[in-house]
Formats: sequence, C-alpha cells, structure tokens
Amino acid sequence: MSGHGTPIPMTSRPCGPLKGEAHVPGDKSISHRSLILGALAVGETRIQGLLEGEDVLDTAKAMRAFGAEVTNHGGGSWSVHGVGVGGFAEPDTVIDCGNSGTGVRLIMGCMASSNITATFTGDASLNSRPMARVTDPIALFGAQSVGRAGGRLPMTIVGAADPVPVHYEVPMPSAQVKSAVLLAALNAPGQTVVIEKEATRDHTERMLAGFGAEISTEVTDAGRVITLTGQPELKAQDIVVPRDPSSAAFPVCAAVVTPGSDVLVPNIGLNPTRAGLFTTLREMGADLTYENEREEGGEPVADLRAKFSPDLKGIAVDPTRAASMIDEYPVLSVVAAFAAGDTVMKGVKELRVKESDRIDAMAKGLRANGVTVEEGDDWWVVKGLGHGNVPGGATCASQLDHRIAMSFMILGMAAQNPVSVDDGGPIATSFPIFERLMADLGARVERSES
Ligand code: S3P
Repeated sequence: MSGHGTPIPMTSRPCGPLKGEAHVPGDKSISHRSLILGALAVGETRIQGLLEGEDVLDTAKAMRAFGAEVTNHGGGSWSVHGVGVGGFAEPDTVIDCGNSGTGVRLIMGCMASSNITATFTGDASLNSRPMARVTDPIALFGAQSVGRAGGRLPMTIVGAADPVPVHYEVPMPSAQVKSAVLLAALNAPGQTVVIEKEATRDHTERMLAGFGAEISTEVTDAGRVITLTGQPELKAQDIVVPRDPSSAAFPVCAAVVTPGSDVLVPNIGLNPTRAGLFTTLREMGADLTYENEREEGGEPVADLRAKFSPDLKGIAVDPTRAASMIDEYPVLSVVAAFAAGDTVMKGVKELRVKESDRIDAMAKGLRANGVTVEEGDDWWVVKGLGHGNVPGGATCASQLDHRIAMSFMILGMAAQNPVSVDDGGPIATSFPIFERLMADLGARVERSES
C-alpha cells in the first residue's frame, strides 16, 4: 500500500505534442459501489471493467472479510457472491481501507445496522481524515463508535442490534456521507429519508434502484429528498463500469496545455453530477469536444477529444458546480496556470479534507513552480501566466494524494522546466496505468532517483 511503502519520486519533463487514444480505467466511485452492493445482494453479481486500483482492491478485501465471495477472473472481470442485506459476518481482522475515504465511509455505513463489530484503519492520510461525518448519522440508526481524538481512524464500530430508520439532512456536500446513510438504511425496517442541499454524485441511488431497492428522489426547495425503504432483497446484477471522468481529466488537461496535442479519450461516463470540469474547461476556451454521445447502462457516455488550446482565459468557476468537479480542482488549477488572467474557485471548503488539504498542497507546489496563488478557508485564486510562461523547475510534495501527484506531472509537461513530486506512489490508488498511458501519448513522465 502506497502510504506504507517506499516513496517513488517522479519527474515530468516538457514534451512534444501528445497524440493518440487514452483508454483510462474504470470509474472509482462505481467500482467501490459495485463490490459493496454485490456483497449485499443475493446471487452472483458480475462486474466488467472494474478499476483495479489499490483503493478498490482494499474494498474487495473488506467485502471478503464481511463474508462475501469476491473473485477476480482477470482482465477487469470480477464476480461477487453476496450475503444478502443484513447478512454481513463479523470480520476476524482489522479492516484496512488504505488511502480510501470512499471505501471506509461506505463500508462503515453498510455494517452499521448489523449486529456485528468491526475495526477500521488506513494509511497516514486516511487516518487523519474526519469520520464524525459518518459516525454522527450512523449513531441515529443505533450504531456506536470509538475512535481516536477528533473522530479519526483507527476506529471500532459496534453495529445496531435493532436499527431504526432515520431522517437525515447531510450537513456538507458529500456523496460519501449520503451513501453511508443510504447503505445503513438498507438493514433498518421502514423508510429512511436523506436530504442533500446540493446534488452530489448519484451513483449509489442509481445502483440501488438497479439492484431492486425501493428508492425515490424528489427535487424540492430544500434540496434532493431521497427516500429508501429498508430491508429489500437486493438482486445480483451484471454491471459494466464506465470509464472514470476523474481519471480522464488528466489526459484531457494534459492535451489542452501541451502544444500541438490532439488526444481522444473514449467511453467516458458523463453523468451530470461528475462532468463539471469539462464544462469549466470549455468556458476557459479549451478545445474540447464530445464525440459519439450515447447512453450506456443508464449513464450518459461520450468520447472526449481534447486539443491544445493556446488561448485559455481565467474565469470565475460557478460555485454551484463544485460538487460535480470536486476531485478535479487540483488539475484545473494547473490548467489555470497556463491561462491568461485569474481563475477564481469559490465554495470549495471540502477540498481541505480530501486525501490531503488539496488547496494547501496545490498552492504550495504551484508557488514553488513560479505561479501566484491566493487562498482563503473555502476559496482560492490562481493567477494565470499564459501559455509558455510557467517556469516550473521545482519538486512538490504529493502529501499521499494521487490527484496532487498526477496534477504536478501535468504541470511539468508544458512548463519551461521539469516538475517533480516526492512520491508518485499514491497514483496507484486510482490510476495504476497513468505512467504508461501518458508515455504512450508522448509524455516524459519518469521515475527519478530518490
Ligand atoms: C466520492 C465522493 C467524493 C469524492 C471522492 C469519491 C464517492 O467525496 O471526492 O473521491 O465515490 O462517493 P465526498 O463525498 O467526501 O465529497
């Protein structure tokens, strides 16, 4: 696991045009949920295109520890024999979720309404992240938790012996928290209602409906009101995981900033709760087009074509779009460095509690590479230098955060000098083929001497 391994320093050098097709891996959010809902269903769920990154592999291990039979058939093809809602066994080991906030928070949710006890841990990044956002709502179902100071992992959850349904308004825009509550609600009798003020990714709701749960969403003045009836029999499904828009963001942004580039990124899931970056890039003047738009497995999908865009301009990013691009702000800030003028990003407090404090991590690294960044608690501004004017030349701390490491590798492709990160190891959590895929396009990303 990257958080415990030897650091892998990496350097990205200025490169020629990026050309070709970038086949990015399966969607991380949907991969976690496929394994978890497969484990809670009755029968065999078959999954094609699962992301085989460390985060998802840790979730597969966890589902085995709770009693599901999870098999890797090779080539991204997996199957899960579920134990049924309420059928989780008590694990006889500590559940190590590695770097994955999604993994640990969703799994805590789905064991919280079963009469079992489990202990969770992770790497240094995950063990520093807030978990009260999940332990507070699962306490309403009757679960108890004991963790470290500030509600941090390692943490033990004692599931509710007699769970009750709840009515819960999610206090922050978080699909992980919403999903944890919905998964806990599965084993509580009666109707649970979850309200979110801002729409966040809706993969859990879509997938629960696909597995046969009684779930509805109503858009009201108070936000999205989701009602789930507990104790359904979930029926095993065949799932094809779409490719991850959050991973597609890296070759797309690399092509936009690197002179002469023309890259096709096929089969990208463009669920509106995930596609905010691409709208934002177009507003900045990026040459980004959707080809072959279609629907697959109930999700909108297209092939993205991104070309070098010499006349990018800084913009004020619409804050109501934040949840739909929350993981893409680090790489957006890199594109902003190559734009003319300021890119203003507001309403992004959640960036401070991701795998790293992403505003801090990007601001420090961008400044070291000659880009001015201003920041406040829930906003930041990148003062773009325009194409060809970003100095580069520095080594940045990736802070155990895959998206920080990959973002600085993109910076190095179009800066005047190479850009390095102290540890590219975390990239394997979500995008294990990143180095090869970028090299095939013509990038010069290499592991450097430590
Ligand atoms: C995710 C939700 C988001 C996102 C994370 C994946 C999910 O986190 O940042 O990478 O799969 O539900 P939050 O729910 O904390 O916003």
